[in-house]
Amino acid sequence: MVRYAEITGWGKCVPPSVLSNSDLEVLTDTSDDWITTRTGIKERRISHVNVSDMAVVASLHALAAANLEPTDIDLILLATCTADLVIPSAASLVQAKLGATNAAALDLNAACSGWIYALNVGTQMVRSGGHNRVLVIGAEKLSFLLDFTDRSTAVLFGDGAGAVVLEATEEPVGLRSVEIGTDGSVADILCVPGVGTAGNRYQGDPSDYAVHMDGPEVFRRAVTAMGEASSRVVEQAGLSVDEVDLLIPHQANVRIIDATARKLKLAPEQVFVNIASYGNTSAATIPMALTEALQEGRVEPGANIVFAAFGAGLTWAAAVVRWGRRVEPLGTSDAHLPPVDKTAAELLEANVAFYGEGRRSE
Ligand code: ACO
Repeated sequence: MVRYAEITGWGKCVPPSVLSNSDLEVLTDTSDDWITTRTGIKERRISHVNVSDMAVVASLHALAAANLEPTDIDLILLATCTADLVIPSAASLVQAKLGATNAAALDLNAACSGWIYALNVGTQMVRSGGHNRVLVIGAEKLSFLLDFTDRSTAVLFGDGAGAVVLEATEEPVGLRSVEIGTDGSVADILCVPGVGTAGNRYQGDPSDYAVHMDGPEVFRRAVTAMGEASSRVVEQAGLSVDEVDLLIPHQANVRIIDATARKLKLAPEQVFVNIASYGNTSAATIPMALTEALQEGRVEPGANIVFAAFGAGLTWAAAVVRWGRRVEPLGTSDAHLPPVDKTAAELLEANVAFYGEGRRSE
């Protein structure tokens, strides 16, 4: 029998604390107008909990949608570059918190492209017969790696999680084509230099613990890589662009999204965009967007969906997924994060104190 891997469940976790562009105007030298026109972002979420907690909530929603119990899962793949800890993996923490006692669990770091990488790995594990039910999660707490007084990065990112369940099937659905790629030779244009063994553990400069990015260069490379990889996977899937029903791209900048859509010659209604609400949630972006697309009735049975992403590494990924027959969840969950009694700005007080007031007037 030929095995395929169908997405049978989907869910997301959105932390409750909202950081608006006007909140950011207080923290750094920026404006709502600049952020809106240059990126398309209006607000983002700041998490009061760690990545594994957000991943668990998203996973419980995905499991309910697939009508499965945590013990039905035999593999957990967690795409993240902001794991709770280096040791153990955040996936191990998710496995324990879910009680997914039959699952092996690992983290996978390909930054913003990570969820498509994990979807590819999970699909291959199912197709090869080694696993039957896989949780593929993207969860990130980028707010941990930002200097909120640095306007070049602080305005771009947010926190969140999304998850899907992959199940083995004989129906020819799921991943039809995929491309994953990396150019490590230019990895330094988007990095966090001081977190990891390469960092100076004892005398680090505070800025080493935050994202450093050559924004315009990343932008240029993202437009090229996402557009070209998307075109190639559509062709490899044996589709013409007319047969693409929905593009769910990584949400880093609305101008990158528009350029990718133009390359595929897609109309605006064929592109899912939610960047205004969440900013760039790295590996969590696409599974969160997919969940919202399903909730909004934007996915039809049998739809051809294109995913495309670009991120630190530098990594890129694109895929075509043929959706199955079911676009409604089999069940729902009331899983949610514990309440928080602080505003997003209050959650960032330690960050701003650490990076100091000085940079704002630089
Ligand atoms: N508020 C106000 N002004 C700003 C801000 C801000 N937040 N940020 C930059 N500026 C200023 C700059 O200082 C510059 O001023 P100057 O002209 O006086 O020198 C001007 O705005 C233009 O700056 P650019 O950096 O050229 O602006 P650009 O249009 O390129 O937008 C941005 C910057 C939004 C970062 C864009 O380059 C971008 O989106 N890059 C891609 C990011 C990305 O895709 N990341 C994905 C991977 S992330 C991951 O994998 C974890």
